[in-house]
Amino acid sequence: MKLSTAQHRQFDRDGYLFFPGLFSADETRTLTEAVPELYSRREAYNVREKGSDAVRTNFAAHMYSEPFAKLARHPRMVEPVADLLGEELYMHQFKINGKMAFEGDVWQWHQDYGTWRNDDQMPTERAMNVAIFLDDVNEYNGPLMFIPGSHKRGVIDAKHDLTTTSYPLWTVDNELIRQLVDRAGGKNGGIVAPKGPAGSMILFHSCLVHASGSNLSPFNRVAVYLSLCAVSNHIRRHKRPEYIAHRDFTPIPCLPDDCLLRDYPVELPWKDGLPASALQTTSDDQRIAA
Ligand code: SIN
Ligand code: MN
Repeated sequence: MKLSTAQHRQFDRDGYLFFPGLFSADETRTLTEAVPELYSRREAYNVREKGSDAVRTNFAAHMYSEPFAKLARHPRMVEPVADLLGEELYMHQFKINGKMAFEGDVWQWHQDYGTWRNDDQMPTERAMNVAIFLDDVNEYNGPLMFIPGSHKRGVIDAKHDLTTTSYPLWTVDNELIRQLVDRAGGKNGGIVAPKGPAGSMILFHSCLVHASGSNLSPFNRVAVYLSLCAVSNHIRRHKRPEYIAHRDFTPIPCLPDDCLLRDYPVELPWKDGLPASALQTTSDDQRIAA
């Protein structure tokens, strides 16, 4: 899937592109149906909400679940990102975020590149986020919110919030959010929240400031977040375990466009459980060479 010149321009201006209904209901179902069993596993890769058993985020399903391994190699997802970054890509992070009915907690305002730089020593922001909705997203179930154009600010100072939710995040303070929203149009477009059916996809810049509210509705809002990084921009530090920040910098080979609906062999290296190496971290004085 090649992007048009107008889409390139729009991405440069707004920092995101929205593709409503990009994957069909049949394709999306192959993914959604696999989620309850993955979430039921008592494994380190399932992070639960604070004070609740609901899964907030599941990491690295593409390493042990066939439908998600196929999604991680899907040309409709990989090709536009490669087009925008102009380079081959590897998978830096793979999450299935729950935001479950009544239970899903907030994601504070942040830039993803803040975490990738501070924790993983990713050299530049040449990496991209892709969100794929596995449920319909509406105004009630905690849609992702963006401040359009905020990626132009580059990397913003952030503080490491270890207490608000069950997941540590480098977050942006409220005064700066107020200014960024004002500059983006205030009440008239200063915040956007793309909504649409399951199967919709959003591409967004790793410096785009984003957040989401809690889900007080009876509707789940499960979504896959894939973070693709230009191969030359691979991370330089392994402070976080491999199931969170991947260490295989091999370019992603794409499968055919119909891969979600057909049998294509995919490797599932962690299908029998997480290897000990996936839990290991290195300290600052053991940085990998660039
Ligand atoms: C994220 O920013 O990584 C997740 C946000 C969300 O799931 O709403
Ligand atoms: Mn994020």
